[in-house]
Amino acid sequence: MSMAHEQNKAFLRRVPLFSSLSEAQLDQLAAGSVRRNFPKGRTIVAEGEPSASLYILLSGRAKVQRSDAEGKEVILAMLGPGEAFGEMSLIDDAPRSASVITVESCDFMAINKDSFKSMLAQNQEMAMEVMKGLVKRLREADKKIETLALLDVYGRVARVLLDFSEEQGEERIIRNKLPRQEIAKMIGASREMVSRVMKGLEIDGYIVPLPEGKLVLREKISSYLN
Ligand code: CMP
Repeated sequence: MSMAHEQNKAFLRRVPLFSSLSEAQLDQLAAGSVRRNFPKGRTIVAEGEPSASLYILLSGRAKVQRSDAEGKEVILAMLGPGEAFGEMSLIDDAPRSASVITVESCDFMAINKDSFKSMLAQNQEMAMEVMKGLVKRLREADKKIETLALLDVYGRVARVLLDFSEEQGEERIIRNKLPRQEIAKMIGASREMVSRVMKGLEIDGYIVPLPEGKLVLREKISSYLN
């Protein structure tokens, strides 16, 4: 086996989705895989196109986005290391449901459609993992529908900030810069409106900006979700 094959196999072995595969199955999958790197701002999957691969993000972050005829965009989700994408159109043979665009430099694996489908047919545990992934997304989409239908714009911004934050002692912190324009595209508001809301949250002590775009969220920010 070549060095590249062994490396690809080692990457696939660490992906949660493939944890139930045997060595032989990993070999088969690795044979149909290539590793790629894209810089920030490149499209990995384009909405509306036919599909040929499943992708696994190894490092970096990418956004899942749809746009209308006028080019207005909505961000459906952010993906991080270890996550799979591009499975929907492999399952139903419909065009790609959304675009996936890198927001920073990304390493990823592209797995050939036939290899993935043959693996799904061979391995029930993996098929279950794929279903769990789809269900997780549906749960998140349900939560998002609730947010958009029931919360005002302060609540929507608070929800995004909380979703992107991690716990740190008594507080929560956002480590990666989260541009206002991106928040706006997640909640269907304008960038100006998001800026106004963020300023309000800052003045009232709900959020504290730190250098490098980091942000501390005070516990009381969750009151906006009620
Ligand atoms: P596919 O339709 O093949 O191409 C676009 C991919 O974006 C899709 O498969 C999913 O992997 C991913 N995707 C689509 N909608 C969402 C969502 N709401 N949350 C997370 N990922 C999504």
